[in-house]
Amino acid sequence: MELSKWWVMTRVDLHLHLLPGVDDGAPDEATALEHAARMAADGVHVATVTPHVGSPFFDTVVEEIAERTSALQRALDREGIALRVEAGGEIYPGAAVGLSARQLDVIAHGPSNARWVLAEVPFAGVDAAFADSLAEIRAKGFGIVIAHPERATGLLTDGGLARLRPALQDGAVLQVNACSLLGRQGPEAQDAARRLIRARLAYIIASDGHPGTRSHTLAAGEPAALQAGASSAQVVQLTQANPRFLLRHGLPRVDTPLPLRADGLRHARAAARRLRPGVRG
Ligand SMILES: [Fe+2]
Repeated sequence: MELSKWWVMTRVDLHLHLLPGVDDGAPDEATALEHAARMAADGVHVATVTPHVGSPFFDTVVEEIAERTSALQRALDREGIALRVEAGGEIYPGAAVGLSARQLDVIAHGPSNARWVLAEVPFAGVDAAFADSLAEIRAKGFGIVIAHPERATGLLTDGGLARLRPALQDGAVLQVNACSLLGRQGPEAQDAARRLIRARLAYIIASDGHPGTRSHTLAAGEPAALQAGASSAQVVQLTQANPRFLLRHGLPRVDTPLPLRADGLRHARAAARRLRPGVRG
Protein backbone atom coordinates (compact mmCIF):
# COMPACT_ATOMS: atom_id res chain seq x y z
CA MET A 1 0.00 0.00 0.00
CA GLU A 2 1.27 3.49 -0.83
CA LEU A 3 1.42 5.11 2.57
CA SER A 4 2.86 8.54 1.86
CA LYS A 5 -0.38 10.18 0.82
CA TRP A 6 -1.99 9.19 4.13
CA TRP A 7 0.98 9.57 6.43
CA VAL A 8 0.93 13.34 6.88
CA MET A 9 -2.78 13.75 7.58
CA THR A 10 -4.06 10.65 9.27
CA ARG A 11 -5.25 9.56 12.64
CA VAL A 12 -2.95 6.88 14.06
CA ASP A 13 -4.41 4.26 16.40
CA LEU A 14 -1.83 2.56 18.64
CA HIS A 15 -4.17 0.30 20.63
CA LEU A 16 -6.54 -1.89 18.67
CA HIS A 17 -7.71 -5.52 18.79
CA LEU A 18 -8.09 -5.91 15.03
CA LEU A 19 -6.11 -9.13 14.54
CA PRO A 20 -8.75 -11.79 13.90
CA GLY A 21 -9.15 -14.91 16.00
CA VAL A 22 -6.53 -14.36 18.67
CA ASP A 23 -8.23 -12.68 21.64
CA ASP A 24 -11.48 -10.90 22.50
CA GLY A 25 -11.12 -8.59 19.50
CA ALA A 26 -12.22 -9.34 15.95
CA PRO A 27 -13.55 -12.92 15.91
CA ASP A 28 -12.83 -13.43 12.21
CA GLU A 29 -11.37 -11.74 9.16
CA ALA A 30 -14.70 -10.48 7.84
CA THR A 31 -15.37 -8.62 11.10
CA ALA A 32 -11.83 -7.21 11.08
CA LEU A 33 -12.21 -5.95 7.51
CA GLU A 34 -15.58 -4.39 8.29
CA HIS A 35 -14.02 -2.50 11.21
CA ALA A 36 -10.99 -1.52 9.14
CA ALA A 37 -13.25 -0.05 6.45
CA ARG A 38 -14.96 1.99 9.17
CA MET A 39 -11.57 3.21 10.39
CA ALA A 40 -10.49 4.27 6.90
CA ALA A 41 -13.79 6.09 6.40
CA ASP A 42 -13.11 7.90 9.70
CA GLY A 43 -9.64 9.00 8.58
CA VAL A 44 -7.66 6.40 10.54
CA HIS A 45 -5.14 5.04 8.04
CA VAL A 46 -2.33 3.78 10.26
CA ALA A 47 -2.65 1.46 13.27
CA THR A 48 -0.83 -1.05 15.39
CA VAL A 49 -2.69 -4.27 16.06
CA THR A 50 -2.32 -5.07 19.73
CA PRO A 51 -3.65 -8.49 20.81
CA HIS A 52 -3.43 -9.34 24.50
CA VAL A 53 -0.01 -10.84 25.28
CA GLY A 54 0.71 -12.86 28.40
CA SER A 55 -2.91 -12.79 29.51
CA PRO A 56 -4.26 -15.84 31.36
CA PHE A 57 -7.46 -15.48 29.33
CA PHE A 58 -5.97 -15.81 25.83
CA ASP A 59 -3.31 -18.01 24.25
CA THR A 60 -1.76 -15.44 21.93
CA VAL A 61 1.47 -16.82 20.50
CA VAL A 62 3.88 -13.91 20.25
CA GLU A 63 5.89 -15.56 17.48
CA GLU A 64 2.76 -15.72 15.27
CA ILE A 65 1.80 -12.05 15.53
CA ALA A 66 4.02 -10.77 12.71
CA GLU A 67 2.78 -13.31 10.17
CA ARG A 68 -0.85 -12.88 11.27
CA THR A 69 -0.44 -9.11 10.83
CA SER A 70 1.04 -9.59 7.36
CA ALA A 71 -1.92 -11.80 6.43
CA LEU A 72 -4.31 -9.11 7.64
CA GLN A 73 -2.43 -6.48 5.63
CA ARG A 74 -2.72 -8.64 2.51
CA ALA A 75 -6.48 -8.91 3.08
CA LEU A 76 -6.75 -5.13 3.57
CA ASP A 77 -4.83 -4.53 0.36
CA ARG A 78 -6.91 -7.10 -1.51
CA GLU A 79 -10.09 -5.32 -0.42
CA GLY A 80 -8.68 -1.88 -1.20
CA ILE A 81 -9.04 -0.68 2.40
CA ALA A 82 -6.66 2.23 3.04
CA LEU A 83 -5.19 1.08 6.33
CA ARG A 84 -1.58 0.17 7.14
CA VAL A 85 -1.19 -2.13 10.14
CA GLU A 86 1.92 -2.87 12.18
CA ALA A 87 2.41 -5.85 14.50
CA GLY A 88 2.10 -5.05 18.19
CA GLY A 89 0.69 -6.38 21.44
CA GLU A 90 -0.82 -5.30 24.74
CA ILE A 91 1.20 -6.73 27.61
CA TYR A 92 -0.89 -8.09 30.47
CA PRO A 93 0.07 -6.64 33.88
CA GLY A 94 3.08 -8.49 35.20
CA ALA A 95 3.50 -10.66 32.09
CA ALA A 96 6.64 -8.87 30.92
CA VAL A 97 8.71 -10.82 33.45
CA GLY A 98 8.07 -13.94 31.38
CA LEU A 99 8.78 -12.35 28.02
CA SER A 100 12.26 -12.32 26.52
CA ALA A 101 13.74 -9.20 24.94
CA ARG A 102 13.36 -10.98 21.59
CA GLN A 103 9.63 -11.53 22.23
CA LEU A 104 9.19 -7.93 23.38
CA ASP A 105 10.85 -6.79 20.16
CA VAL A 106 8.22 -8.65 18.11
CA ILE A 107 5.51 -6.39 19.55
CA ALA A 108 7.63 -3.22 19.88
CA HIS A 109 7.62 -0.15 17.65
CA GLY A 110 9.97 2.66 16.73
CA PRO A 111 13.59 2.77 15.55
CA SER A 112 16.19 0.45 17.02
CA ASN A 113 17.51 3.00 19.52
CA ALA A 114 14.07 3.88 20.90
CA ARG A 115 11.86 0.78 20.79
CA TRP A 116 8.73 0.82 22.96
CA VAL A 117 5.88 -1.50 23.92
CA LEU A 118 2.28 -1.11 25.08
CA ALA A 119 1.59 -2.29 28.65
CA GLU A 120 -1.86 -2.29 30.23
CA VAL A 121 -2.59 -1.30 33.81
CA PRO A 122 -4.20 -3.67 36.32
CA PHE A 123 -7.89 -2.79 36.61
CA ALA A 124 -7.70 -3.40 40.37
CA GLY A 125 -5.28 -0.47 40.67
CA VAL A 126 -1.65 0.42 40.13
CA ASP A 127 0.39 -1.37 42.79
CA ALA A 128 4.07 -1.88 43.54
CA ALA A 129 4.12 -5.12 41.55
CA PHE A 130 2.96 -3.31 38.44
CA ALA A 131 5.53 -0.58 38.94
CA ASP A 132 8.16 -3.32 39.23
CA SER A 133 6.93 -4.92 35.98
CA LEU A 134 7.34 -1.60 34.17
CA ALA A 135 10.88 -1.36 35.53
CA GLU A 136 11.47 -4.90 34.20
CA ILE A 137 10.40 -3.83 30.70
CA ARG A 138 12.66 -0.80 30.93
CA ALA A 139 15.55 -2.95 32.09
CA LYS A 140 15.09 -5.14 29.00
CA GLY A 141 15.65 -2.06 26.86
CA PHE A 142 12.17 -0.89 25.93
CA GLY A 143 10.25 2.31 26.47
CA ILE A 144 6.64 2.03 27.63
CA VAL A 145 3.30 3.41 26.56
CA ILE A 146 0.99 2.77 29.50
CA ALA A 147 -2.43 1.68 28.21
CA HIS A 148 -5.59 3.19 29.67
CA PRO A 149 -4.27 4.26 33.11
CA GLU A 150 -7.71 5.75 33.75
CA ARG A 151 -9.10 2.21 34.00
CA ALA A 152 -6.96 1.45 37.05
CA THR A 153 -9.11 1.83 40.14
CA GLY A 154 -7.95 4.71 42.31
CA LEU A 155 -5.53 6.16 39.78
CA LEU A 156 -6.28 9.72 40.86
CA THR A 157 -7.83 9.07 44.25
CA ASP A 158 -5.65 6.41 45.84
CA GLY A 159 -2.08 7.08 44.82
CA GLY A 160 -2.06 5.15 41.54
CA LEU A 161 -0.56 7.96 39.53
CA ALA A 162 2.14 8.50 42.15
CA ARG A 163 3.12 4.83 41.84
CA LEU A 164 3.58 5.37 38.09
CA ARG A 165 5.94 8.28 38.71
CA PRO A 166 9.22 6.30 38.42
CA ALA A 167 8.11 4.93 35.04
CA LEU A 168 7.04 8.39 33.87
CA GLN A 169 10.35 9.87 35.00
CA ASP A 170 11.99 7.10 33.02
CA GLY A 171 10.23 8.27 29.86
CA ALA A 172 6.97 6.31 29.83
CA VAL A 173 3.89 8.07 28.45
CA LEU A 174 0.17 7.63 29.05
CA GLN A 175 -2.44 6.43 26.53
CA VAL A 176 -6.08 7.26 27.26
CA ASN A 177 -8.94 5.26 25.70
CA ALA A 178 -11.50 6.97 23.48
CA CYS A 179 -14.15 4.70 25.02
CA SER A 180 -13.21 5.90 28.51
CA LEU A 181 -13.73 9.50 27.40
CA LEU A 182 -17.08 8.42 25.96
CA GLY A 183 -18.12 7.04 29.35
CA ARG A 184 -18.32 3.43 28.18
CA GLN A 185 -15.93 2.13 30.84
CA GLY A 186 -17.70 3.58 33.82
CA PRO A 187 -17.86 6.98 35.51
CA GLU A 188 -14.55 6.68 37.39
CA ALA A 189 -12.65 5.85 34.19
CA GLN A 190 -14.40 8.66 32.35
CA ASP A 191 -13.61 11.19 35.06
CA ALA A 192 -9.97 10.09 35.27
CA ALA A 193 -9.61 10.12 31.47
CA ARG A 194 -11.00 13.62 31.24
CA ARG A 195 -8.72 14.85 34.01
CA LEU A 196 -5.66 13.27 32.37
CA ILE A 197 -6.55 15.07 29.14
CA ARG A 198 -7.23 18.40 30.85
CA ALA A 199 -3.99 18.20 32.85
CA ARG A 200 -2.11 17.35 29.65
CA LEU A 201 -0.76 14.19 31.22
CA ALA A 202 -2.07 12.01 28.39
CA TYR A 203 0.29 11.79 25.43
CA ILE A 204 -2.02 9.93 23.04
CA ILE A 205 -5.61 8.78 22.69
CA ALA A 206 -6.25 5.32 21.19
CA SER A 207 -9.45 3.43 20.44
CA ASP A 208 -8.79 0.10 22.23
CA GLY A 209 -11.35 -1.00 19.65
CA HIS A 210 -12.67 -4.57 19.81
CA PRO A 211 -14.43 -5.18 16.48
CA GLY A 212 -17.69 -6.98 17.13
CA THR A 213 -18.17 -5.57 20.63
CA ARG A 214 -16.58 -2.10 20.67
CA SER A 215 -17.10 -0.72 17.19
CA HIS A 216 -16.05 2.90 17.71
CA THR A 217 -12.94 4.17 15.96
CA LEU A 218 -10.27 6.58 17.16
CA ALA A 219 -12.19 9.43 15.54
CA ALA A 220 -14.83 9.15 18.27
CA GLY A 221 -12.24 10.24 20.81
CA GLU A 222 -11.83 13.67 19.28
CA PRO A 223 -15.17 15.29 20.17
CA ALA A 224 -14.97 13.53 23.53
CA ALA A 225 -11.56 15.08 24.17
CA LEU A 226 -12.87 18.50 23.19
CA GLN A 227 -15.71 18.01 25.64
CA ALA A 228 -13.15 17.10 28.29
CA GLY A 229 -11.52 20.48 27.83
CA ALA A 230 -8.81 19.87 25.24
CA SER A 231 -8.10 22.52 22.64
CA SER A 232 -8.57 21.57 19.00
CA ALA A 233 -4.79 21.76 18.51
CA GLN A 234 -4.25 19.44 21.48
CA VAL A 235 -6.70 16.96 19.99
CA VAL A 236 -4.66 16.83 16.79
CA GLN A 237 -1.58 16.13 18.90
CA LEU A 238 -3.33 13.34 20.80
CA THR A 239 -4.75 11.42 17.83
CA GLN A 240 -2.40 12.32 14.99
CA ALA A 241 0.93 14.05 15.69
CA ASN A 242 1.96 12.26 18.89
CA PRO A 243 1.10 8.68 17.84
CA ARG A 244 2.75 9.30 14.47
CA PHE A 245 5.82 10.61 16.32
CA LEU A 246 5.97 7.46 18.47
CA LEU A 247 5.95 5.20 15.43
CA ARG A 248 8.54 7.18 13.54
CA HIS A 249 10.92 8.29 16.30
CA GLY A 250 10.12 5.92 19.15
CA LEU A 251 10.35 6.52 22.86
CA PRO A 252 13.93 7.07 23.99
CA ARG A 253 15.02 6.87 27.58
CA VAL A 254 15.16 10.49 28.66
CA ASP A 255 17.32 10.41 31.77
CA THR A 256 20.35 8.45 30.61
CA PRO A 257 22.75 9.34 27.81
CA LEU A 258 22.50 6.75 25.08
CA PRO A 259 25.45 5.61 22.95
CA LEU A 260 23.98 7.02 19.78
CA ARG A 261 25.42 8.26 16.53
CA ALA A 262 25.00 11.97 15.81
CA ASP A 263 21.81 11.51 13.82
CA GLY A 264 20.33 9.26 16.48
CA LEU A 265 21.26 11.74 19.18
CA ARG A 266 19.43 14.51 17.34
CA HIS A 267 16.41 12.24 17.12
CA ALA A 268 16.62 11.49 20.82
CA ARG A 269 16.89 15.15 21.73
CA ALA A 270 13.97 16.03 19.48
CA ALA A 271 11.98 13.19 21.01
CA ALA A 272 12.77 14.30 24.54
CA ARG A 273 11.61 17.81 23.74
CA ARG A 274 8.38 16.48 22.31
CA LEU A 275 7.94 13.96 25.09
CA ARG A 276 8.08 16.33 28.03
CA PRO A 277 5.02 15.80 30.24
CA GLY A 278 1.82 16.90 28.57
CA VAL A 279 1.29 18.10 25.04
CA ARG A 280 1.52 21.55 23.64
CA GLY A 281 -1.49 22.91 21.93
FE1 LIG B 1 -6.75 -3.40 24.77
